[in-house]
Amino acid sequence: TRTYRIAVIPGDGIGKEIIPVAQQVMEKATAGLADFTYENFDLGAERYLRDGTILPDEELERIKRNDAILLGAIGDPRIKAGILERGLLLKLRFALDQYVNLRPTKLYKGVTSPLSNPGDIDFVVVREGTEGLYCGAGGAIRQGTEAEVATEISINTAYGVERVVRYAFDLAMKRRRHVTLVHKKNVLVNAGDMWQRLVDKVAKDYPDVGHDYLHIDATTIFLVTEPSRFDVIVTDNLFGDILTDEAGAVVGGVGYSASGCINASNQYPSMFEPIHGSAPDIAGQGIANPTAAVLSAAMLLRHLGLEEPATSIERAVEADIEERGSTQRSTERVGQDILARL
Ligand code: IPM
Ligand code: MN
Repeated sequence: TRTYRIAVIPGDGIGKEIIPVAQQVMEKATAGLADFTYENFDLGAERYLRDGTILPDEELERIKRNDAILLGAIGDPRIKAGILERGLLLKLRFALDQYVNLRPTKLYKGVTSPLSNPGDIDFVVVREGTEGLYCGAGGAIRQGTEAEVATEISINTAYGVERVVRYAFDLAMKRRRHVTLVHKKNVLVNAGDMWQRLVDKVAKDYPDVGHDYLHIDATTIFLVTEPSRFDVIVTDNLFGDILTDEAGAVVGGVGYSASGCINASNQYPSMFEPIHGSAPDIAGQGIANPTAAVLSAAMLLRHLGLEEPATSIERAVEADIEERGSTQRSTERVGQDILARL
């Protein structure tokens, strides 16, 4: 058995409650197959409020020495928007070159979709993770005056776009072999045209994968009128952010949505986190649903090549949701119920 080093960042609020459950499930699913050593990092709002630090370089370097990262949730209403987002979460995604933000969207049996006729919903959004409007390019001048100017520049490099598009086509090969590029190429003609050309170029290497194109605005409609049409969606950082919140909603809320921030070249560790936030309103009560964190741990295992335990966790979660998803259970109870199925 191989030993993997996992950096654990429980973060804030319910993150601290759900991550230990995800670790227990990981442990049981891999018993006899793999061992894990965990390195805990005290990062997030509490730390920032305590000593003013967010992610010191020394800790970033220690995180880099791990095989993967398991993250709970970051955020606290006492801290101004943008500080932890940019200083911690985005800093990790950028520093670790996590260029694929992978967001599977599946409607589980037993979960009620807000759509009256949802059909089979099972698609993956491959969101670019290191470029676009998230780069922090741009600036503000004459702030607070009537002549104020603020700009955010969307950075799209051929290198960055091609590698994420390739990832999407690779993924489609293992699924239903269809890729949809989502952009706004009728208006964002520079970046949109480049994304389309790179999709057309990469598609030549995947003759068995079909592809099409949709504008972002039309996509938000199809996501509620015909979500079963999607298999793999590839899109830029901001479109992907917005689309995956909508995707979470159509499959019954982000409570079941896991995600991976992946460095597919394996130069740096990838990071796995539930899509939901730190939920300060219910934190500390032991009632947060750990399912998305457990599914994130399954994605982590798959990324490390531990396909079988990953699948067995997903099966256990599916069965748990189908039978008991609608019951009120504590965090611990959901954990026990999932563990009992492994
Ligand atoms: C997400 C979040 C982040 C993002 C924020 C918190 C920076 O919304 O993971 O989707 O925009 O990527
Ligand atoms: Mn988001």
